[in-house]
Amino acid sequence: MTTLTLKPTHKAVLSYYNQLHAFKELNVANEGGLAPLFAELLKHCARQCEWTLVEQYPMKRNGRSLRADGGLVDKFNLLHGIWEAKDGTDDLEREVKKKFEAGYPSENILFQAPERIIIVQNGREVFNDLITNPQFLIRALKIFFEEYQPKEFLQWEKAADEFKDRVPEIGKRLLKQIETERETNKRFTGAFNEFYSLCRETINPELSVQAVEEMLIQHILTERIFRNVFRNADFVNRNIIAHEIEKVITALTSQHFSRDEFLADLDLFYKAIETTADTISDYSQKQHFLNTIYEKFFQGFSVKVADTHGIVYTPQPIVDFMVRSVEELLKKEFGKSLSDEGVHILDPFVGTGNFIIRVMREIKKHKLHYKYERELHCNEVMLLPYYIASMNIEHAFFEMAGNYLPFEGICLVDTFEIAEEGQQTSHIDALFSKENTARVRKQKDAPIFVVIGNPPYNSGQVNENDNNKNRKYPYIDRRVKNTYVKDSKATNKNALSDVYVKAFRFACDRIEGSGEGMVAFVSNNSFIDDFAFDGMRKSLHDEFDAVYILDLGGNVRKNPKLSGSTHNVFGIQVGVSINILVKKKAKKSGEPGKIYYARMDEFWKKEQKYLFLEDMNHYQAIQWQEINPDKNDLWLTSGTDGDFENLMAMGSKEAKAGDNTHICFKLFSNGIKSNRDSWVFNFNWNPPFKPKK
Ligand SMILES: C[S@@+](CC[C@H](N)C(=O)[O-])C[C@H]1O[C@@H](n2cnc3c(N)ncnc32)[C@H](O)[C@@H]1O
Repeated sequence: MTTLTLKPTHKAVLSYYNQLHAFKELNVANEGGLAPLFAELLKHCARQCEWTLVEQYPMKRNGRSLRADGGLVDKFNLLHGIWEAKDGTDDLEREVKKKFEAGYPSENILFQAPERIIIVQNGREVFNDLITNPQFLIRALKIFFEEYQPKEFLQWEKAADEFKDRVPEIGKRLLKQIETERETNKRFTGAFNEFYSLCRETINPELSVQAVEEMLIQHILTERIFRNVFRNADFVNRNIIAHEIEKVITALTSQHFSRDEFLADLDLFYKAIETTADTISDYSQKQHFLNTIYEKFFQGFSVKVADTHGIVYTPQPIVDFMVRSVEELLKKEFGKSLSDEGVHILDPFVGTGNFIIRVMREIKKHKLHYKYERELHCNEVMLLPYYIASMNIEHAFFEMAGNYLPFEGICLVDTFEIAEEGQQTSHIDALFSKENTARVRKQKDAPIFVVIGNPPYNSGQVNENDNNKNRKYPYIDRRVKNTYVKDSKATNKNALSDVYVKAFRFACDRIEGSGEGMVAFVSNNSFIDDFAFDGMRKSLHDEFDAVYILDLGGNVRKNPKLSGSTHNVFGIQVGVSINILVKKKAKKSGEPGKIYYARMDEFWKKEQKYLFLEDMNHYQAIQWQEINPDKNDLWLTSGTDGDFENLMAMGSKEAKAGDNTHICFKLFSNGIKSNRDSWVFNFNWNPPFKPKK
């Protein structure tokens, strides 16, 4: 239940009237001049309900695209109300009529002129009065914010929260069932073992039994959502991977275990999701809803997996900015476009499919069919996001092209696993199923021109005890070692084993096949200025003609005044940047390229950062600063003392080895490295954690 605290003496109300008065004195009566005053007031109220006012809110009604002055949405992107502003000179009642004729929704809409408000709820006018008296203004706002409460939304909010809370317990129960069946059900044991070896051969040779059991659980718990929320009754037959998994589930349920009986317990919860989804007619809102499930499922079910695989979807303004920038840079640098035949695009870490869908929107309509069938590629290693991405992409195509066509550019595969020297495909024998293997081969043969996406990075691991280390990949690890590590002067290079570094190496190598191309990643920004990344900075500088880095900040560990949830664009603790790398055929090796850098205000809230990206639209609007790296491959040198190099060092490896360099101490070592400092060291003798008895 939403309650608004608002009084005539409150600053937001006083400021609205004062500014209105000041504008009147200046003879400003037009909508463009006055609407922002009311928007401020709405934002003030929205904050109290944890909603957001989205200005210029886009809607689709009966196939028509409309744009309201504002939409109030909650954290799940569910729409609670529409705001339309009108001029002081407009006849408000006539304007209301016009808007409804144009197809505006009538569930909860507030029409506002500077001195009057009309509110329509569920098709009925519930307020129509002057607001020159603040009591009337407050009354109107209370009606608008408090009195429209669709019960489906409340149910959904509860269900989504419960989903996250209950998913571990439900998962555990399901796991128990699976384990019992493995002991007692021969048919299932056979099918499971076969499936397990298939996964080990094709996804990861070190994959644990538990990971495969988790896959089955993900499938069982979410299949109904795909079937009903997205009206994709045939999902398990249409999706090549779901089809394989269904065979194992059929064996699982061949004796005592009944899927329907087990899930009956969750009926209420599924129904809440389905009823709410029914109220959403716009697919993009449903897609957002699925993204929430994607994050909630992993946050609740498998926190460690969420960390090592970087399960976090990419906010739309970031995706929009990156795709638009790639399109503009393709034009400027190569005279090409994302729509052109021959420009193959790969998202190696597709998650829910946001980047590919946005690329599809950028592609010219008459080229979409061709590109969709041949030149859009993506990979995902986890089952649930793989399902979500497949469905989202196929649906987006259906909406744009008017017919259903399975998306064959998506592979269930570990991107690093298939990375090998050159374009060899001989090591790709059987990847899950014949169809999946064929898709991976096709991708390997494709001359990728653009690699775009949001690679995983261990956002959460702060403690060695979390043991969420990423696995080893011989080929990519060797490539990192021979380039980024080799060129680094740092003593401790551990930071270079972060998975996002491998992703950069993979992407930079992947466009090599075409001899030129672009990489666009939104990633951890530690490579910009961390000491251990000097070799990576050098490689990027040497390998590319141009490197654009838009630093979105948000590193909470570096600046404790920041809050991850407020200032970081992903709501995480590590800093983030958008990075676009351009490489042309004519580039001579050893001739360093240009580096362009820009940063957002460290203290901007994430919403301000999104707005900035929306306003900028693409890279050209950004005020870039050209960077000249110093001889130690430092990029951000402002504030560092140029004389530092000339000062006497505390110690050095060379001096330890007997070289007579001037140093303070001959002793030189790492000291004690516990990798668990918060456990081992303290100023207080009493242990911070009580040992378990
Ligand atoms: C940060 S998310 C991408 C989010 C995506 N852009 C979106 O908006 O939904 C990274 C995704 O990459 C997947 N991933 C992680 N490591 C991978 C690998 N080695 N190969 C393929 N996919 C991987 C994760 O499962 C996760 O879904």
